[in-house]
Amino acid sequence: MSACSDSSSSGDTPGLDSGASADGATPIDASTTDTSVAADTGTDAADPNGLSAAQIAAMHTLSPLPAVPADSTNAVADNAAAATLGQMLFFDKSYSGALAVAGTLANGGLGAVGETGKVSCASCHLGAELDDRRSKPGNVSLGTDFGTRRALALVNASFYTWTNWGGRFDSQWSLPLAVAENAKIMSSTRLAVVHMIYAKYKTEYEAVFGALDARLDPANANAAAFPAVGKPKAAGAADGPWELMAVADQTIANTIFANFGKAIAAYMRKLVSRDAPFDRFVAGDDSAMTPAQVNGLKVFLDSDKGACITCHSGPHFEDAQFHALGVPQTGPNVPAADLGRFADLPALLASPFRTNGAFSADVNTGKLTALTQIDAQKGQFRTKGLRGVAVAGPYMHSGQLATLDDVVAFYNAGGGDTVDAGEVKDPKIKVLGLTAQQSADLVDFMKTLTGADVPAALNLDTSKP
Ligand code: HEC
Ligand code: HEC
Repeated sequence: MSACSDSSSSGDTPGLDSGASADGATPIDASTTDTSVAADTGTDAADPNGLSAAQIAAMHTLSPLPAVPADSTNAVADNAAAATLGQMLFFDKSYSGALAVAGTLANGGLGAVGETGKVSCASCHLGAELDDRRSKPGNVSLGTDFGTRRALALVNASFYTWTNWGGRFDSQWSLPLAVAENAKIMSSTRLAVVHMIYAKYKTEYEAVFGALDARLDPANANAAAFPAVGKPKAAGAADGPWELMAVADQTIANTIFANFGKAIAAYMRKLVSRDAPFDRFVAGDDSAMTPAQVNGLKVFLDSDKGACITCHSGPHFEDAQFHALGVPQTGPNVPAADLGRFADLPALLASPFRTNGAFSADVNTGKLTALTQIDAQKGQFRTKGLRGVAVAGPYMHSGQLATLDDVVAFYNAGGGDTVDAGEVKDPKIKVLGLTAQQSADLVDFMKTLTGADVPAALNLDTSKP
């Protein structure tokens, strides 16, 4: 009898709501996220894998991976033509600005200082997990300049409630906008993006979003209404081309810019990987995991062992929450401090492209209600989903830990030391006392979480010259 049929024979099929909070509308009460299993007090004699009834029930909260959660703030989230356009835009480098760091063999950079049109989203998101396999030495990403964190894998990223390590975005579609304009990532401007869309993707754009403004045609008598480049000025700077535009035209440009993000988000929602060995095991295939991996699963679940499920819960292996683990700020190009969620929140709350803002298709999700910057957020990072983790190192927000063995050793030692005075390490992070065998088995278990590759067609450059 398989683990799976044991569980279903009890008539109790656990739902998928184990804390992953697919709708993400309500922050989860910490007291309800502790789904770790009480100490294993005797195994179910009928289970060939030696899993207790409680372990089997907990295991079923982790699989299978459901459909990508709906996004009511993006009207084209599941529109196939939008996704096709989004893929073209994802691979397009033409609108990116000047490189500030010279590319070398040692840093994996993209060209000479001052060169433009060298960076696309795919420059840092490509391959099996659509993460950064290019920047060197492999921890933080190098676009037009060095960033401060490691590129996140895009496979299954649409399952997150908050986007980025620090939750800087409340939707996937708002991320490409800030990334395009970020001086250290693509160093472009929204007007450059708008003109790029008109020049290269007018047909595809209009089929999804409707007619583009005729004045975007360079031959139009009023083409000057939309300068070639421009974005909102930095605080305190003199007015630039953007500030000199008519407010109504700014809104037209912002709408196109938001649609740029929405099309890319539609593409990213297709980057889903299922059917990992662990999923097959939960579905009843006992041969899908080795005895060591089953033992590692128990370490992952049990509250007197790893208790990893406390935070890595639900079928995406994350609780939609942020926690301070005290991961040290070490490694090449890593800044001395990173306050995580605390640092990322002000830009989210001030963004005109947030989900309760003018460019959202649904301002009533309640997601941002009562969200403010508070000291407790210092040093907190988003719990990372663990599907595909074995093939997407190095680990943690700036790639501080090279291997999964290093990650388990880090947790076993009770995490790291917090840096900032206001930072409070999560009380759930404590010395675990795992044996060498348990640690090795836990690493082995995480290797069962890599599913099928995304269709190769989604990893192809479909951009236009
Ligand atoms: C220079 C490298 C680089 C480029 C270019 C780049 N990214 Fe990223 N991406 C990153 C890094 C680094 C992070 C994590 C940033 C953070 O958390 O602060 C990230 C995070 C993300 C995430 C968040 C995933 C999650 O788990 O929440 C998405 C989505 C994403 N990028 C999509 C894009 C898109 C779309 C583009 C193009 C418009 C793009 N990226 C361009 C490096 C890059
Ligand atoms: C208190 C909540 C919490 C607990 C308990 C916890 N994690 Fe994490 N995990 C996180 C957070 C938050 C991050 C991201 C931290 C960062 O980057 O600074 C993370 C990151 C990771 C990563 C890195 C993933 C990547 O792609 O970089 C791995 C692997 C991991 N955890 C495995 C585990 C294992 C195994 C256990 C049990 C021994 C565990 N975690 C327990 C919250 C937790």
